[in-house]
Amino acid sequence: MDRASDPAAGKPRQRLVVTPVTGHFGADVSGVRLDRPLAPDTLTALRRALRRHRVLFFRRQALTHGQQTGLARRFGPLAPAHPWQEPVPGHPFIHALATGGSRPAGAEEQHRARWRTPDYLSGWHADITAAVDPPSFCILRAATVPSRGGDTTWADLVTAYQQLSEPLRRFLDELTAEHRYMVGYVPFGVTDTASRTATAAGLVAHHPVVRVLPESGLRALFVNPAFTSHINELSPPESRRILDLVFAHMTRPEFSVRHRWEAGDVAVWDNRATVHIAPEDHEHLGEVRTMYRVFVAGSPALGPTGRTSTAVSGPRYQAAGPRTEG
Ligand SMILES: [Fe+2]
Repeated sequence: MDRASDPAAGKPRQRLVVTPVTGHFGADVSGVRLDRPLAPDTLTALRRALRRHRVLFFRRQALTHGQQTGLARRFGPLAPAHPWQEPVPGHPFIHALATGGSRPAGAEEQHRARWRTPDYLSGWHADITAAVDPPSFCILRAATVPSRGGDTTWADLVTAYQQLSEPLRRFLDELTAEHRYMVGYVPFGVTDTASRTATAAGLVAHHPVVRVLPESGLRALFVNPAFTSHINELSPPESRRILDLVFAHMTRPEFSVRHRWEAGDVAVWDNRATVHIAPEDHEHLGEVRTMYRVFVAGSPALGPTGRTSTAVSGPRYQAAGPRTEG
């Protein structure tokens, strides 16, 4: 249990309490108000908790866009809100994720909403790994949540790596893989606007299959079903079978944590050491789910044998130009 103090001026100092929520990763954090400036020792404790637990949950914080952006900045410089989608007007680092709100009439319409609307489709992924320098940390806050459904689930790629056999770990340590959009699913047809935009964005990168986290030296799997197309050093059938094996392993329930959102909740996670999956179980309810996300800029990955991420096409993600909060 990690403890630190809170800076609330003129008030009794709060005690930060970090409570693990699964056997391997994820923790609830209480005793801190994220809408206030964080004292240095509180920030140090939060960074240590993020390093140790990889996903942190802060319940019922009710941040504004500006407070969420301010919180993210405490973990590093920010990356653009999205490679091509527009941010929330006046808040260039805030990306809105809104789903639900209209109840599909029947099974066919539900099918169309799910499989023909890219925003509804997700699959396990880390954010923006088609870039050579995907975001390091993600800060997601729930504004409006459905009465049921809409949970997000994360998987822990450090533990998943550690629980592979030693010969397989050594094998994966040597490899690199290609990441691009439109891998994990291909929506029906080529006329879909988002599909065309994603392809036109041209982000393609090669990353080590295993990355070393610079703060801890821990190794994490760094592939995901949504973005990873193939392992570069293997033949196509070898690559497919190895990736299927790794994907099935890393998404096992014992490496996962699921968060039941309440309005105001904030999740902060290490995008280099986890994958997550958005919910697919609420759009038929006709209830709105609105989330806001901010990215902390990342760096190219470093593999155990010295291999680093390389851009196949597209710019560095955090190099989209400095933007000021409006
Ligand atoms: Fe995501």
